[in-house]
Amino acid sequence: MTKNDRANFGSKIGVILASAGSAVGLGNIWRFPFETGNHGGAAFILIYLGCVIALGIPIMIAEFLIGRRSRANTAGAYRLLSPGTQWKWVGRLGVLSGFLIYSFYSVVAGWTLEYIVQAVSGGLSGQSTEGFISTFNTFVSNPWRPALWTIAFVLLTHIIIVRGVERGIERSSKILMPLLFILLLVLACCSISLPNAGEGVRFLLQPDFSKVDSKVLLGAMGQAFFSLSLGMGCLCTYASYFRSDTKLPRTACNVAVIDTLVAILAGFIIFPAAFSVGIRPDSGPSLLFITLPNVFQQAFGALPLLAMLLSLLFYVLLALAALTSTISLHEVGTAYLHEEFNFSRKKAATLVTTCCVVLGILCSLSLGVGSHLTLFGMTLFDLFDFVTAKIMMPAGGLFIALFAGWYLDKQIIWEEISNHGTLKVHIYRVLLIGLKYVAPIGITLVFLDQLHVFG
Ligand code: PFF
Repeated sequence: MTKNDRANFGSKIGVILASAGSAVGLGNIWRFPFETGNHGGAAFILIYLGCVIALGIPIMIAEFLIGRRSRANTAGAYRLLSPGTQWKWVGRLGVLSGFLIYSFYSVVAGWTLEYIVQAVSGGLSGQSTEGFISTFNTFVSNPWRPALWTIAFVLLTHIIIVRGVERGIERSSKILMPLLFILLLVLACCSISLPNAGEGVRFLLQPDFSKVDSKVLLGAMGQAFFSLSLGMGCLCTYASYFRSDTKLPRTACNVAVIDTLVAILAGFIIFPAAFSVGIRPDSGPSLLFITLPNVFQQAFGALPLLAMLLSLLFYVLLALAALTSTISLHEVGTAYLHEEFNFSRKKAATLVTTCCVVLGILCSLSLGVGSHLTLFGMTLFDLFDFVTAKIMMPAGGLFIALFAGWYLDKQIIWEEISNHGTLKVHIYRVLLIGLKYVAPIGITLVFLDQLHVFG
């Protein structure tokens, strides 16, 4: 196997596009608003921004340099850079996180397909807020419909990974991602102009630090890792396909900025509208799917065709944003099985798909017929979300920072971030401080705080 034969997706895609495609997805538009709503608004966002800058960017650069240096899947990367040590478990932990995330993520991705169909068939027009709530709840608790959409989404990802129609995705992403951004801007303007939207804007901009507790800190840190696709080897795998002249620090900053802008924009769509139509900001995973149809209805109710077209466009773009993320999630497991176990790429991809279809169906059912089956008070769906975003990804980030900051030869770090001395790099020292001290201490403190070590 040559090092590049797994690269039929990654190596051909624009570097920023691939990484930003992985980062921007349901995490920004679906998860960020409901986590912000659950954790009280503006103060959460400020802590989130702090996590992106202090933890996210340094760890992303570390993942990039580990991936590009080793040119291997995430488990192979640690094995190659630290032969004979136990660091390979960091990569393996990442692969496991990838499977779990993919499983519940594809359930929500499947919901976007249902909403595309609803938008076309007119099911989302002419309803009251209560109507939208009941449409969502009826759909999600149906035993087979959301499960079938989950399977459909995983299969769609599978086809793309196996068939290699990535060029099409790459080319279309160049148009679709800016289009998504423009549409989000338009929707944010519409949302802000709804009656009583000011309360939602205040919720986003006026921090109330008295509400900050250990849950808020963990939530913001987890959201930063989830949204940036960090701590589980995804960007490490992508970086193994980067060109040798890719500027790692700059790419990391670009991805973090794009990702954060999309999330904030999503906040400006959801909260003004939610307050305007009386939806509770802490209504959880349903928030996007109940609030958004309301925005279309309220803002474009007088022009039903326009409302239908815009909502269709929105859900199609959301599904595509989710697709570029599921492709990256799939790639982590596929590259791992292909390279570490010498499976053919097709067999590796099929194995990942099969596992995720099974787990995805279970996650989907756990929101309906299986909702009484809980562990630690959570359904399987919530458990996978909690364990990955709030434990495994930050823990992965902690180990990645320790690996790059303390174990890895500094010469390697220098060579990778300066492209073998051909770039002027001003952030070398700051990066080392971030990886050696700030990220490990920061993540550990948030974890300890969870255990109520500080009272
Ligand atoms: N960052 C993606 C999002 O915000 O939707 C989710 C994700 C993709 C997480 C890929 C992890 C990952 F490896």
